[in-house]
Amino acid sequence: MKTQQQANVPKADFPPELLQASLKERVDYFKTRLIDHSLLNVAFKKAMAALGSSSGPRVVTITGPTGVGKTTMARRIYRQLMKNYEAEIAADPSMVPVLGINAIPPNGTSFNWKDFYFRLLEKNGDVLLDHKLNLPRQGNMFPELLSPPPSEGATADTLRRALEKCIRTRRTKFLIVDEGHHLMMVKDDGRLEYQFESLKSLTIETDVIIVLVGTYRLLDIREHSGQLVRRSEVVPLSRYDFRRQGHKHSFASALATLQNKMPLEETPDLVPDAEYFYLKTGGCIGILKDWLTRCLEQAILENRKTVDTEFASRFALDNKGLTTIIEEALAGEAKLSDVSLDSIKTLLADGMPKVIDAPEDPNKKKTPKRRVGERNPVRDQTGGFHVAP
Ligand SMILES: Nc1ncnc2c1ncn2[C@@H]1O[C@H](COP(=O)(O)OP(=O)(O)O)[C@@H](O)[C@H]1O
Ligand SMILES: [Mg+2]
Repeated sequence: MKTQQQANVPKADFPPELLQASLKERVDYFKTRLIDHSLLNVAFKKAMAALGSSSGPRVVTITGPTGVGKTTMARRIYRQLMKNYEAEIAADPSMVPVLGINAIPPNGTSFNWKDFYFRLLEKNGDVLLDHKLNLPRQGNMFPELLSPPPSEGATADTLRRALEKCIRTRRTKFLIVDEGHHLMMVKDDGRLEYQFESLKSLTIETDVIIVLVGTYRLLDIREHSGQLVRRSEVVPLSRYDFRRQGHKHSFASALATLQNKMPLEETPDLVPDAEYFYLKTGGCIGILKDWLTRCLEQAILENRKTVDTEFASRFALDNKGLTTIIEEALAGEAKLSDVSLDSIKTLLADGMPKVIDAPEDPNKKKTPKRRVGERNPVRDQTGGFHVAP
Protein backbone atom coordinates (compact mmCIF):
# COMPACT_ATOMS: atom_id res chain seq x y z
CA MET A 1 0.00 0.00 0.00
CA LYS A 2 1.20 3.52 -0.80
CA THR A 3 2.11 5.57 2.24
CA GLN A 4 1.07 9.23 2.43
CA GLN A 5 4.75 10.18 1.96
CA GLN A 6 5.10 8.20 -1.28
CA ALA A 7 1.83 9.51 -2.66
CA ASN A 8 3.09 13.08 -2.36
CA VAL A 9 6.41 12.54 -4.12
CA PRO A 10 6.27 14.62 -7.32
CA LYS A 11 6.33 12.38 -10.35
CA ALA A 12 6.32 13.65 -13.93
CA ASP A 13 3.11 12.80 -15.72
CA PHE A 14 3.51 13.93 -19.34
CA PRO A 15 5.13 12.57 -22.52
CA PRO A 16 8.90 13.23 -22.07
CA GLU A 17 9.30 14.41 -25.69
CA LEU A 18 7.31 17.51 -24.72
CA LEU A 19 10.45 18.88 -23.07
CA GLN A 20 11.84 19.43 -26.57
CA ALA A 21 8.60 20.91 -27.89
CA SER A 22 7.84 24.59 -28.47
CA LEU A 23 6.59 26.94 -25.78
CA LYS A 24 3.10 26.91 -27.32
CA GLU A 25 2.91 23.12 -27.50
CA ARG A 26 4.03 22.74 -23.90
CA VAL A 27 1.62 25.35 -22.59
CA ASP A 28 -1.26 24.03 -24.73
CA TYR A 29 -0.61 20.53 -23.44
CA PHE A 30 -0.97 21.66 -19.84
CA LYS A 31 -3.91 23.96 -20.59
CA THR A 32 -5.91 21.11 -22.06
CA ARG A 33 -5.29 18.66 -19.22
CA LEU A 34 -8.50 18.16 -17.31
CA ILE A 35 -8.28 16.48 -13.97
CA ASP A 36 -10.81 14.60 -11.95
CA HIS A 37 -11.12 15.94 -8.46
CA SER A 38 -13.48 14.93 -5.73
CA LEU A 39 -15.86 17.94 -5.73
CA LEU A 40 -16.10 17.86 -9.52
CA ASN A 41 -16.95 14.18 -9.45
CA VAL A 42 -19.66 14.72 -6.83
CA ALA A 43 -21.27 17.53 -8.84
CA PHE A 44 -20.96 15.72 -12.18
CA LYS A 45 -22.63 12.57 -10.83
CA LYS A 46 -25.42 14.59 -9.25
CA ALA A 47 -26.02 16.51 -12.48
CA MET A 48 -26.06 13.39 -14.65
CA ALA A 49 -28.46 11.65 -12.26
CA ALA A 50 -30.83 14.64 -12.44
CA LEU A 51 -30.59 14.74 -16.25
CA GLY A 52 -31.00 11.01 -16.69
CA SER A 53 -34.21 10.66 -14.74
CA SER A 54 -37.43 10.64 -16.75
CA SER A 55 -39.38 12.03 -13.79
CA GLY A 56 -36.56 14.42 -12.92
CA PRO A 57 -36.39 18.21 -12.93
CA ARG A 58 -37.04 20.26 -16.08
CA VAL A 59 -34.41 22.83 -15.13
CA VAL A 60 -31.07 21.86 -13.63
CA THR A 61 -29.05 24.74 -12.20
CA ILE A 62 -25.31 24.21 -11.90
CA THR A 63 -23.86 26.92 -9.77
CA GLY A 64 -20.65 27.79 -7.96
CA PRO A 65 -18.11 30.57 -7.45
CA THR A 66 -16.17 32.06 -10.33
CA GLY A 67 -13.21 29.97 -11.45
CA VAL A 68 -14.40 26.79 -9.80
CA GLY A 69 -14.72 24.97 -13.13
CA LYS A 70 -18.41 25.33 -14.05
CA THR A 71 -17.89 25.84 -17.78
CA THR A 72 -15.46 22.93 -17.85
CA MET A 73 -18.01 20.71 -16.14
CA ALA A 74 -20.76 21.89 -18.51
CA ARG A 75 -18.59 20.80 -21.45
CA ARG A 76 -18.11 17.43 -19.84
CA ILE A 77 -21.86 17.08 -19.40
CA TYR A 78 -22.32 18.06 -23.06
CA ARG A 79 -19.86 15.37 -24.20
CA GLN A 80 -21.43 12.73 -21.98
CA LEU A 81 -24.98 13.50 -23.13
CA MET A 82 -23.92 13.47 -26.80
CA LYS A 83 -22.28 10.10 -26.20
CA ASN A 84 -25.49 8.77 -24.67
CA TYR A 85 -27.28 9.56 -27.94
CA GLU A 86 -24.60 8.22 -30.32
CA ALA A 87 -26.74 5.37 -31.60
CA GLU A 88 -29.76 7.62 -32.19
CA ILE A 89 -27.66 10.20 -34.04
CA ALA A 90 -26.25 7.43 -36.26
CA ALA A 91 -29.81 6.39 -37.14
CA ASP A 92 -31.00 9.97 -37.69
CA PRO A 93 -28.11 12.34 -38.46
CA SER A 94 -30.42 15.36 -38.35
CA MET A 95 -30.88 14.86 -34.63
CA VAL A 96 -29.26 17.45 -32.33
CA PRO A 97 -29.79 15.99 -28.85
CA VAL A 98 -27.87 18.66 -26.96
CA LEU A 99 -27.64 22.36 -27.65
CA GLY A 100 -25.12 24.52 -25.86
CA ILE A 101 -25.09 28.30 -25.76
CA ASN A 102 -23.56 31.19 -23.84
CA ALA A 103 -26.04 33.73 -22.51
CA ILE A 104 -24.57 37.02 -23.65
CA PRO A 105 -24.75 39.93 -21.19
CA PRO A 106 -27.17 42.61 -22.37
CA ASN A 107 -25.86 45.45 -24.48
CA GLY A 108 -28.51 47.73 -23.12
CA THR A 109 -30.38 47.51 -19.88
CA SER A 110 -32.05 44.12 -20.08
CA PHE A 111 -31.29 40.62 -21.33
CA ASN A 112 -31.92 40.33 -25.05
CA TRP A 113 -34.21 37.37 -25.72
CA LYS A 114 -34.30 38.04 -29.45
CA ASP A 115 -30.55 37.71 -29.70
CA PHE A 116 -30.65 34.62 -27.48
CA TYR A 117 -33.22 32.83 -29.67
CA PHE A 118 -31.43 33.88 -32.82
CA ARG A 119 -28.13 32.44 -31.65
CA LEU A 120 -29.82 29.21 -30.64
CA LEU A 121 -31.43 28.88 -34.03
CA GLU A 122 -28.11 29.51 -35.68
CA LYS A 123 -26.48 26.81 -33.55
CA ASN A 124 -29.25 24.39 -34.27
CA GLY A 125 -28.50 24.69 -37.97
CA ASP A 126 -31.73 26.44 -38.86
CA VAL A 127 -31.14 27.00 -42.56
CA LEU A 128 -34.20 29.18 -43.03
CA LEU A 129 -33.13 31.66 -40.42
CA ASP A 130 -32.76 34.53 -42.86
CA HIS A 131 -36.36 34.10 -43.94
CA LYS A 132 -37.77 34.70 -40.49
CA LEU A 133 -37.70 38.40 -41.06
CA ASN A 134 -40.49 40.89 -40.92
CA LEU A 135 -39.47 42.95 -43.90
CA PRO A 136 -41.45 45.79 -45.39
CA ARG A 137 -43.27 44.58 -48.52
CA GLN A 138 -41.84 47.26 -50.77
CA GLY A 139 -38.45 45.89 -49.88
CA ASN A 140 -38.99 43.20 -52.52
CA MET A 141 -38.75 45.83 -55.24
CA PHE A 142 -35.32 46.88 -54.15
CA PRO A 143 -33.50 43.63 -53.48
CA GLU A 144 -30.21 45.47 -53.08
CA LEU A 145 -31.65 47.23 -50.03
CA LEU A 146 -32.74 43.97 -48.49
CA SER A 147 -29.94 43.41 -46.06
CA PRO A 148 -30.81 44.37 -42.53
CA PRO A 149 -28.98 42.22 -39.99
CA PRO A 150 -31.32 39.21 -39.58
CA SER A 151 -31.77 39.57 -35.82
CA GLU A 152 -33.10 43.05 -36.28
CA GLY A 153 -35.80 42.02 -38.70
CA ALA A 154 -37.52 39.34 -36.67
CA THR A 155 -39.49 39.76 -33.50
CA ALA A 156 -38.67 37.80 -30.37
CA ASP A 157 -41.99 35.97 -30.74
CA THR A 158 -41.26 34.87 -34.32
CA LEU A 159 -37.87 33.59 -33.34
CA ARG A 160 -39.23 31.90 -30.26
CA ARG A 161 -41.81 29.99 -32.32
CA ALA A 162 -39.13 29.05 -34.84
CA LEU A 163 -36.93 27.80 -32.01
CA GLU A 164 -39.70 25.66 -30.54
CA LYS A 165 -40.28 24.11 -33.95
CA CYS A 166 -36.59 23.60 -34.51
CA ILE A 167 -36.14 21.89 -31.12
CA ARG A 168 -38.97 19.52 -31.99
CA THR A 169 -37.71 18.66 -35.47
CA ARG A 170 -34.12 18.24 -34.33
CA ARG A 171 -35.35 16.18 -31.39
CA THR A 172 -33.30 18.27 -28.98
CA LYS A 173 -33.48 16.91 -25.44
CA PHE A 174 -31.16 19.23 -23.53
CA LEU A 175 -30.34 22.90 -23.73
CA ILE A 176 -27.22 23.95 -21.82
CA VAL A 177 -27.02 27.69 -21.12
CA ASP A 178 -23.64 28.78 -19.79
CA GLU A 179 -23.29 32.15 -18.04
CA GLY A 180 -26.98 31.71 -17.24
CA HIS A 181 -26.81 34.49 -14.64
CA HIS A 182 -26.85 36.95 -17.56
CA LEU A 183 -30.51 36.05 -18.01
CA MET A 184 -31.09 37.76 -14.70
CA MET A 185 -29.80 41.10 -15.89
CA VAL A 186 -33.02 43.05 -16.14
CA LYS A 187 -33.93 46.67 -15.64
CA ASP A 188 -36.05 46.05 -12.57
CA ASP A 189 -36.32 43.02 -10.35
CA GLY A 190 -40.05 42.79 -11.03
CA ARG A 191 -39.19 41.48 -14.48
CA LEU A 192 -37.18 38.54 -13.15
CA GLU A 193 -40.28 36.42 -12.85
CA TYR A 194 -40.92 36.84 -16.58
CA GLN A 195 -37.39 35.73 -17.39
CA PHE A 196 -38.07 32.42 -15.72
CA GLU A 197 -41.55 32.15 -17.11
CA SER A 198 -39.99 32.22 -20.58
CA LEU A 199 -37.67 29.35 -19.71
CA LYS A 200 -40.38 27.40 -17.98
CA SER A 201 -42.73 27.64 -20.94
CA LEU A 202 -39.92 26.59 -23.28
CA THR A 203 -39.52 23.38 -21.29
CA ILE A 204 -43.29 22.82 -21.35
CA GLU A 205 -43.75 23.54 -25.07
CA THR A 206 -40.81 21.50 -26.28
CA ASP A 207 -40.11 19.02 -23.48
CA VAL A 208 -36.48 20.14 -23.51
CA ILE A 209 -34.53 20.04 -20.23
CA ILE A 210 -32.68 23.26 -19.53
CA VAL A 211 -29.30 23.21 -17.81
CA LEU A 212 -28.50 26.65 -16.43
CA VAL A 213 -24.83 27.12 -15.59
CA GLY A 214 -23.65 30.21 -13.75
CA THR A 215 -22.69 32.01 -10.59
CA TYR A 216 -24.63 31.90 -7.33
CA ARG A 217 -26.75 34.78 -8.63
CA LEU A 218 -28.79 32.04 -10.30
CA LEU A 219 -30.06 31.00 -6.89
CA ASP A 220 -32.23 34.11 -6.86
CA ILE A 221 -34.54 32.14 -9.16
CA ARG A 222 -35.81 30.40 -6.08
CA GLU A 223 -36.94 33.68 -4.59
CA HIS A 224 -38.83 34.67 -7.72
CA SER A 225 -40.62 31.62 -8.95
CA GLY A 226 -42.13 29.00 -6.70
CA GLN A 227 -43.26 27.10 -9.81
CA LEU A 228 -39.78 26.86 -11.18
CA VAL A 229 -38.46 25.61 -7.83
CA ARG A 230 -40.89 22.74 -8.03
CA ARG A 231 -39.54 21.74 -11.40
CA SER A 232 -35.87 22.41 -10.82
CA GLU A 233 -32.83 21.06 -9.05
CA VAL A 234 -29.71 22.88 -7.92
CA VAL A 235 -26.36 21.17 -8.37
CA PRO A 236 -23.61 23.06 -6.55
CA LEU A 237 -20.04 22.84 -7.80
CA SER A 238 -18.24 23.95 -4.67
CA ARG A 239 -14.80 25.29 -3.96
CA TYR A 240 -12.58 23.47 -1.47
CA ASP A 241 -13.13 24.77 2.05
CA PHE A 242 -10.46 23.77 4.56
CA ARG A 243 -12.98 24.10 7.38
CA ARG A 244 -14.69 21.02 5.98
CA GLN A 245 -13.49 17.51 6.57
CA GLY A 246 -11.31 15.98 3.90
CA HIS A 247 -11.13 19.13 1.77
CA LYS A 248 -7.52 19.91 2.68
CA HIS A 249 -6.44 16.47 1.56
CA SER A 250 -8.46 16.60 -1.69
CA PHE A 251 -7.18 20.06 -2.59
CA ALA A 252 -3.57 18.98 -1.98
CA SER A 253 -4.13 15.92 -4.10
CA ALA A 254 -5.55 18.04 -6.99
CA LEU A 255 -2.50 20.32 -6.67
CA ALA A 256 -0.22 17.28 -6.86
CA THR A 257 -1.98 15.94 -9.97
CA LEU A 258 -1.68 19.31 -11.71
CA GLN A 259 1.95 20.00 -10.80
CA ASN A 260 2.95 16.55 -12.11
CA LYS A 261 1.46 17.42 -15.50
CA MET A 262 3.53 20.58 -15.94
CA PRO A 263 6.02 19.73 -18.71
CA LEU A 264 9.13 21.00 -16.91
CA GLU A 265 12.55 19.40 -16.54
CA GLU A 266 12.06 19.00 -12.81
CA THR A 267 8.57 18.30 -11.51
CA PRO A 268 7.56 21.06 -9.08
CA ASP A 269 7.01 20.17 -5.44
CA LEU A 270 4.25 22.56 -4.37
CA VAL A 271 2.20 20.29 -2.15
CA PRO A 272 4.01 21.18 1.11
CA ASP A 273 2.69 24.72 0.52
CA ALA A 274 -0.88 23.60 -0.25
CA GLU A 275 -2.17 25.99 2.42
CA TYR A 276 -0.69 28.98 0.55
CA PHE A 277 -2.16 27.78 -2.75
CA TYR A 278 -5.50 27.40 -1.02
CA LEU A 279 -5.33 30.97 0.31
CA LYS A 280 -4.42 32.39 -3.07
CA THR A 281 -7.17 30.55 -4.95
CA GLY A 282 -9.95 30.53 -2.37
CA GLY A 283 -10.03 26.77 -2.96
CA CYS A 284 -11.15 27.11 -6.62
CA ILE A 285 -9.49 24.54 -8.88
CA GLY A 286 -10.00 26.62 -12.04
CA ILE A 287 -8.18 29.58 -10.52
CA LEU A 288 -5.36 27.21 -9.49
CA LYS A 289 -5.13 25.78 -13.00
CA ASP A 290 -4.97 29.19 -14.68
CA TRP A 291 -2.35 30.34 -12.19
CA LEU A 292 -0.16 27.27 -12.77
CA THR A 293 -0.52 27.71 -16.55
CA ARG A 294 0.83 31.24 -16.20
CA CYS A 295 3.73 29.95 -14.03
CA LEU A 296 4.55 27.27 -16.60
CA GLU A 297 4.68 29.75 -19.46
CA GLN A 298 6.91 32.16 -17.54
CA ALA A 299 9.19 29.37 -16.33
CA ILE A 300 9.75 28.20 -19.91
CA LEU A 301 10.34 31.77 -21.09
CA GLU A 302 12.89 32.29 -18.31
CA ASN A 303 14.56 28.93 -19.01
CA ARG A 304 13.81 27.61 -15.55
CA LYS A 305 14.00 23.93 -14.79
CA THR A 306 11.07 24.06 -12.40
CA VAL A 307 8.78 26.37 -10.44
CA ASP A 308 8.60 26.75 -6.69
CA THR A 309 6.17 28.58 -4.43
CA GLU A 310 8.24 31.74 -4.36
CA PHE A 311 8.29 31.90 -8.16
CA ALA A 312 4.56 31.12 -8.31
CA SER A 313 3.77 33.92 -5.87
CA ARG A 314 4.84 36.42 -8.56
CA PHE A 315 1.82 35.47 -10.66
CA ALA A 316 -0.78 34.98 -7.95
CA LEU A 317 -4.01 36.99 -7.86
CA ASP A 318 -3.77 40.13 -5.75
CA ASN A 319 -5.37 39.97 -2.35
CA LYS A 320 -7.95 42.62 -3.11
CA GLY A 321 -9.31 40.79 -6.16
CA LEU A 322 -9.22 37.58 -4.19
CA THR A 323 -11.23 39.17 -1.38
CA THR A 324 -14.02 40.01 -3.84
CA ILE A 325 -14.05 36.45 -5.22
CA ILE A 326 -14.12 34.89 -1.76
CA GLU A 327 -16.75 37.27 -0.40
CA GLU A 328 -18.99 36.47 -3.36
CA ALA A 329 -18.40 32.75 -2.83
CA LEU A 330 -19.25 32.97 0.86
CA ALA A 331 -22.42 34.95 0.18
CA GLY A 332 -23.46 32.33 -2.40
CA GLU A 333 -22.74 29.47 -0.07
CA ALA A 334 -24.90 31.10 2.60
CA LYS A 335 -27.72 31.39 0.04
CA LEU A 336 -27.22 27.76 -0.89
CA SER A 337 -27.53 26.43 2.63
CA ASP A 338 -31.06 25.23 3.20
CA VAL A 339 -33.30 26.56 5.97
CA SER A 340 -34.13 24.20 8.82
CA LEU A 341 -37.28 22.09 8.84
CA ASP A 342 -38.24 23.94 12.02
CA SER A 343 -38.46 27.22 10.14
CA ILE A 344 -40.82 25.55 7.65
CA LYS A 345 -42.92 24.34 10.61
CA THR A 346 -43.05 27.88 11.99
CA LEU A 347 -43.97 29.28 8.59
CA LEU A 348 -46.81 26.79 8.15
CA ALA A 349 -48.07 27.30 11.69
CA ASP A 350 -47.84 31.08 11.92
CA GLY A 351 -48.20 32.17 8.32
CA MET A 352 -46.38 35.19 6.94
CA PRO A 353 -44.95 37.58 9.53
CA LYS A 354 -47.36 40.50 10.06
CA VAL A 355 -46.50 43.74 8.33
CA ILE A 356 -46.01 46.28 11.10
CA ASP A 357 -47.65 49.65 10.40
CA ALA A 358 -45.11 52.19 9.38
CA PRO A 359 -44.61 54.93 12.02
CA GLU A 360 -46.26 58.20 11.17
CA ASP A 361 -44.13 60.72 9.36
CA PRO A 362 -43.72 63.67 11.74
CA ASN A 363 -43.16 66.04 8.81
CA LYS A 364 -46.46 65.15 7.15
CA LYS A 365 -48.82 68.13 6.90
CA LYS A 366 -51.82 67.66 9.17
CA THR A 367 -55.34 68.85 8.22
CA PRO A 368 -56.58 71.09 11.02
CA LYS A 369 -59.34 69.53 13.10
CA ARG A 370 -62.75 71.36 13.08
CA ARG A 371 -65.31 71.53 15.82
CA VAL A 372 -68.53 69.56 15.41
CA GLY A 373 -70.98 71.51 13.23
CA GLU A 374 -68.27 73.72 11.72
CA ARG A 375 -68.60 73.87 7.93
CA ASN A 376 -65.85 72.52 5.66
CA PRO A 377 -64.43 75.37 3.63
CA VAL A 378 -66.12 75.47 0.16
CA ARG A 379 -65.77 77.84 -2.69
CA ASP A 380 -68.88 80.01 -3.15
CA GLN A 381 -70.44 79.82 -6.57
CA THR A 382 -69.66 82.80 -8.77
CA GLY A 383 -71.11 84.01 -12.11
CA GLY A 384 -74.40 82.82 -13.67
CA PHE A 385 -77.78 84.19 -12.73
CA HIS A 386 -78.57 85.48 -9.26
CA VAL A 387 -82.19 85.24 -8.32
CA ALA A 388 -83.14 88.35 -6.42
CA PRO A 389 -84.61 87.59 -3.05
N1 LIG B 1 -11.18 19.77 -13.65
C1 LIG B 1 -10.35 20.63 -14.22
N2 LIG B 1 -9.13 20.21 -14.62
C2 LIG B 1 -8.28 21.04 -15.20
N3 LIG B 1 -8.52 22.31 -15.46
C3 LIG B 1 -9.71 22.81 -15.10
C4 LIG B 1 -10.69 21.99 -14.46
N4 LIG B 1 -11.78 22.74 -14.22
C5 LIG B 1 -11.50 23.98 -14.70
N5 LIG B 1 -10.27 24.01 -15.23
C6 LIG B 1 -9.63 25.18 -15.88
O1 LIG B 1 -9.79 26.29 -15.02
C7 LIG B 1 -10.12 27.45 -15.75
C8 LIG B 1 -11.42 28.02 -15.26
O2 LIG B 1 -12.44 27.07 -15.43
P1 LIG B 1 -13.94 27.42 -15.87
O3 LIG B 1 -14.60 26.14 -16.15
O4 LIG B 1 -13.91 28.44 -16.95
O5 LIG B 1 -14.49 28.07 -14.53
P2 LIG B 1 -15.88 28.82 -14.26
O6 LIG B 1 -16.76 28.59 -15.45
O7 LIG B 1 -16.41 28.21 -13.02
O8 LIG B 1 -15.54 30.26 -14.04
C9 LIG B 1 -10.12 27.06 -17.22
O9 LIG B 1 -8.90 27.40 -17.79
C10 LIG B 1 -10.29 25.54 -17.17
O10 LIG B 1 -9.68 24.93 -18.27
MG1 LIG C 1 -17.69 29.90 -16.81
